[in-house]
Amino acid sequence: MALLPILQYPDERLHTVAKPVAQVDDRIRRLVKDMAETMYEAPGVGLAATQVDVHERVIVIDVSEQGDDLLVLINPEITWYSEETKVYEEGCLSVSGIYDKVERASEVKVTALNEKGERFEFDADGLLAVCVQHEIDHLDGKVFVEHLSMLKQTRILTRLRKQQRETKKVDAKVTV
Ligand code: NI
Repeated sequence: MALLPILQYPDERLHTVAKPVAQVDDRIRRLVKDMAETMYEAPGVGLAATQVDVHERVIVIDVSEQGDDLLVLINPEITWYSEETKVYEEGCLSVSGIYDKVERASEVKVTALNEKGERFEFDADGLLAVCVQHEIDHLDGKVFVEHLSMLKQTRILTRLRKQQRETKKVDAKVTV
């Protein structure tokens, strides 16, 4: 297993639309293991392959309190969205230190393949519904901040660019 580097917004690669997984094989199972390890280490409750620069439709999620209930979604699709929506304060491992309110369907029905390549379906509500929609957005090349107003997005970009410049300065000192 290995920890994978997580792309940081506004990295253009986060806008790549991921391709469906053609075959759930050992390569995909290794990717799932590495993604899960990376998510738990971060720590986060969800990670899409896009975020680790692999552009295939793979997601890992764990919204349990103990962090012992890994959900693996390969080629996930949302087959139904509730009309009812809910606003939730979201964050993202690719958007360091930024949290903001996003409105999404409060319930969804999802179909996906598991690590054995078997299709399964489930209903999601609460945090799981938020997480599934947030992660599938990643596979479609969309980051949660892109749901916000242009004014907010501009402010976030300014703040992140400043943070990233400061991080680079610190890195340079360490290298010397
Ligand atoms: Ni995210």
